[in-house]
Amino acid sequence: MEVFRVKSIEQSIQDTEEPEHRLRKDLSALDLTVFGIGVIVGTGIFVLTGRVARDLAGPAVALSFVAAGIVCALAALCYAEFASTVPVAGSAYTFAFATLGEFPAWIIGWDLMLEMMLGAAVVAVGWSGYLTSLLESLGIVLPDAIAGEGATFNLPAALVVLALTAILVAGIKLSSRFNLIIVTIKIAVVLLVIVAGLFFINMANYTPFIPPSKPTPAVEGLAAPLIQVLFGITPVAFGVLGIFSAAAIVFFAYIGFDVVATAAEETRDPRRDLPIGIIASLVICTLLYVAVSLVVVGMQPYSQLSESAPLADAFKAVGQTWAATLISIGALAGLTTVVMILMLGMSRVMFAMSRDNLLPRGLSKVHPRFGTPYRITILMGVIVAVLAGLVPLSTIAELVNIGTLFAFVIVSIAVVILRRTRPDLPRSFRTPLVPLVPILSVLACLYLMLNLPVETWLRFVVWMIIGVVVYVTYGYRHSRVTRRPLDSR
Ligand code: ALA
Repeated sequence: MEVFRVKSIEQSIQDTEEPEHRLRKDLSALDLTVFGIGVIVGTGIFVLTGRVARDLAGPAVALSFVAAGIVCALAALCYAEFASTVPVAGSAYTFAFATLGEFPAWIIGWDLMLEMMLGAAVVAVGWSGYLTSLLESLGIVLPDAIAGEGATFNLPAALVVLALTAILVAGIKLSSRFNLIIVTIKIAVVLLVIVAGLFFINMANYTPFIPPSKPTPAVEGLAAPLIQVLFGITPVAFGVLGIFSAAAIVFFAYIGFDVVATAAEETRDPRRDLPIGIIASLVICTLLYVAVSLVVVGMQPYSQLSESAPLADAFKAVGQTWAATLISIGALAGLTTVVMILMLGMSRVMFAMSRDNLLPRGLSKVHPRFGTPYRITILMGVIVAVLAGLVPLSTIAELVNIGTLFAFVIVSIAVVILRRTRPDLPRSFRTPLVPLVPILSVLACLYLMLNLPVETWLRFVVWMIIGVVVYVTYGYRHSRVTRRPLDSR
């Protein structure tokens, strides 16, 4: 069927050379690694660690980070092969087009919107929360109507999104420099937590390292994890299973290494640099996460960790208020780049979709001076700003996880397919042990997806149905790959 016709890799690469749709190739392996760290380290480590240790894993939260890191490493090995073989903006969208066909590619592109647009909006709201509390500690109180959870319009969240959009339009190199500065601050703060925290560790807090498991009060209805509904399993907290339930949540902390692949087209030597950028950023973040979580649960009994700012509050608890303030500033700075790079990734995926006419083609025009897809970047910035301003997003953050895991599943499958359909392609990086690693990656991602609540699945399915409707009414009619292979070049 036409809608499953693939777009050849050669054609994808050729499209990147079109004069009006050509991105500037400015990024090195180091830039990509810093991009990766910029987008990965954020809400996950600065916020989720406390809640998860307190409610699900205890001191063993460090093992949850290891488990989630392993799931991501399996997927990262698949992303690295693809990104170096098909160095075209669009990441999983482009990979799916090369292996599964136009319709699955559209579905993945639509799914990535869920991951990156919603992710950017969620983190922007978190950023606004940190800003509000930091301002409050300086005696400045923002009116409730424009800031905080119950705001009518979350003004700081919307404004930070628009400011970051302006940076993205102004150029990939500028974005990358801005990112480098912020990442330096962010990593300094994380290292501060690790090093300064070591002095306040009380070994008694580590026993028991894996608290004995206990059943959580059965979560009913739509809030129950799908796996429980399907198999009648009662969720438990703590114990070995608690480590895995926690891993499904701290997975959020790793989202972002996949976004590195969306910058493929702007990389000077993608075949060498992309695998380095993807894998190095993931490895560095995993090490930081495990160290931070070990230190934090050593500083305070896990049952007393704070929900909203566990890192800062652990220092407050041991009387080090100066460190708490520094950590809050670092978190604020750190969340900025998470929002920016999620939007960067999103604009590049939409750029690739628009270049294929699945979104209006005029949107992918590149700015003559800045070399960035400015139209699509501005459109996306406005959508994310409105979302961040209007929607109370904390309840739908799990949608970001499910969207990302779905993309990981597809990319892992696609690696195996491409090995069969195009064994001839030069692959500068090869996923080891194919098909074992991709199969393990699919299974691990599906397992984490099953641990998400039924309501998340329902929202995900609704979003996908809307995607199919948009494809049938727009993309299917306009696609130039399937419908008009030659005439619109
Ligand atoms: N990994 C990113 C974060 O933790 C999305 O905020």
